[in-house]
Amino acid sequence: MSPPPAGQPARSLAAAPRHVLARAGRGGPAFLWGFLRHPARVGSVAPSSACLERRLVREAQVAQAGAVVELGTGTGGTTAALLRAMRPSARLLAIELDPQFHHHVAQRVRDPRLHLALDSAERLDALLAAHGLGAVDAIVSGIPFSTLPRLAADRIAASVARALKPGGRFVAYQVRASVEDYVGPYLGPAQRAWEWMNVPPVRVFTWVR
Ligand SMILES: C[S@@+](CC[C@H](N)C(=O)[O-])C[C@H]1O[C@@H](n2cnc3c(N)ncnc32)[C@H](O)[C@@H]1O
Repeated sequence: MSPPPAGQPARSLAAAPRHVLARAGRGGPAFLWGFLRHPARVGSVAPSSACLERRLVREAQVAQAGAVVELGTGTGGTTAALLRAMRPSARLLAIELDPQFHHHVAQRVRDPRLHLALDSAERLDALLAAHGLGAVDAIVSGIPFSTLPRLAADRIAASVARALKPGGRFVAYQVRASVEDYVGPYLGPAQRAWEWMNVPPVRVFTWVR
């Protein structure tokens, strides 16, 4: 391979290292440890299945998006699935509260389009600004709204609505339906579906701003 012309980065965005993503896997054992550490915050014993990943990518219309946010990367299976579907020029801001999950993803999912933040989704507005991103086309969330303090859940729902472009999509997957109580006042009624091919089966809610 010839070196890049002077003044150009060695690895362009168009040449995203997909081989690294393919090797990342879903991190099942690390995910289970994370659940045992913080069961309410993680909300699931296993990372999302390939079927759920495909549904999230489809519902969020990630292939057409210029900027995407993920709330709650876990061990990064969903993060890698979003990146595989995204355009070479798109950007993904992926926010995770748990330091061990964050480091797991940082070591395994390398992609120049990915901005990782070890932080709370409650700080979405500030994180978008800090990473030079404005309004986004899609937000995908696995955060269990049912176990969040009410104030935190409302703050996240409000900032999700603020962060989406008109026509932007918010896709949330979880076992319980309480996310609707928080997001409904900002984005109206959701389209609802179940993904049965996941452990456990989860509800998938889609809002279009
Ligand atoms: C159900 S897991 C989803 C993990 C992964 N996306 C998947 O589908 O396999 C939910 C994730 O949200 C994270 N989380 C919970 N509350 C959060 C918050 N306030 N801010 C950011 N991440 C949070 C948890 O640590 C956990 O990794």
